[in-house]
Amino acid sequence: MSGVIETVNLNLYYGTYQALKGVNVGFADRRVTSVIGPSGCGKSTLLRTLNRMNDHLGARVTGQVLFRGEDIYMPATDLVALRSLIGMVFQRPNPFPFSVFDNVAMGPRMHSVPASQIPAIVEESLVASDLWHRVKDRLLSPALELSLGQQQQLCIARVIATNPEVILFDEPCSALDPETTLHIEELMRRLSKEYSVIVVTHNMQQAARVSETTVFMLSGQIIEVGPTLMMFTSPSDKRTEDYISGRYG
Ligand SMILES: Nc1ncnc2c1ncn2[C@@H]1O[C@H](COP(=O)(O)OP(=O)(O)OP(=O)(O)O)[C@@H](O)[C@H]1O
Ligand SMILES: [Mg+2]
Repeated sequence: MSGVIETVNLNLYYGTYQALKGVNVGFADRRVTSVIGPSGCGKSTLLRTLNRMNDHLGARVTGQVLFRGEDIYMPATDLVALRSLIGMVFQRPNPFPFSVFDNVAMGPRMHSVPASQIPAIVEESLVASDLWHRVKDRLLSPALELSLGQQQQLCIARVIATNPEVILFDEPCSALDPETTLHIEELMRRLSKEYSVIVVTHNMQQAARVSETTVFMLSGQIIEVGPTLMMFTSPSDKRTEDYISGRYG
C-alpha cells in the first residue's frame, strides 16, 4: 500500500528484544489512520519510528521508513526538520512552563522564522487547534494554567506551528474526560483535511469515529490493515476479530 509514509520490512530492536517485526504498512495522505492492538504490541514504538523518536532510546532499526519516497533513516536526515514535518502529540499534554504564546512560537523561532511573522503563525495555529477563542486574551499567561484538554490543544497548536505534513497522536485522549475527548476527535477529523493524521488508540469507538483506515497490531507485527468499518464489522483475520470482540488485550 502506498501513502505519505511507508515502512518497508521494518524491524526494531531494543537490545535483544524485537519490538517490530517485518512491518510493511503505508499511511494515506490527508486521512486519519488509527493503530490499535493490545498493550505492549508495539503501537507507540511504530509511531515513534515514523519520525525517529526512538533514536535516543537506543533502539536499532533495520528496513526503511519512506516519507514521500525518501528513507528517513539515511544518515543525512536532518532530525529537527524531520520532526517539524512529522510532528507528535503525546498521551499527557506536555506544554513547556512558558506562556501560551511562547509555547506555540518556539518551533518557528527554532527555524529562524522572522519575528514579525511569529504572531500571525501563533494565531493561525491556535485557530486551527480551536483554542484561539479561549486564549486570545491570555496569550502571555502560563500554559500550565490551562485545563488539561486546553493543554492538549496547545500541544496540537505547537505542532501545527512548524508547518507539518503528518501529525502523529499517541493516545491523545487517554488523560481527558469524554466531552473533551470528543472535541479532540473532531479536531483530528478536521485536521485530516490538511494533514495526514495517524492515531494510536485503545478506544475502539474512537478508532471507529475518527479513522478511515485501521491498522491492527499484535506482538510487533501488523496483522491486518483495512477500511475501519470493514475491520470492525467483518475482519478477515481471526486474531483481529478476537481483539475487537474483547477476547484479549
Ligand atoms: N525504551 C524501551 N526499551 C526497551 N523496551 C521497550 C522500550 N519501549 C518499549 N519497549 C518494549 O517494546 C514493546 C512495545 O512497546 P510499546 O510501548 O511500543 O507498546 P504499545 O503497543 O504502545 O503499548 P501500550 O498500549 O501499553 O502503550 C513492549 O514489550 C515494551 O516493553
Ligand atoms: Mg503505547
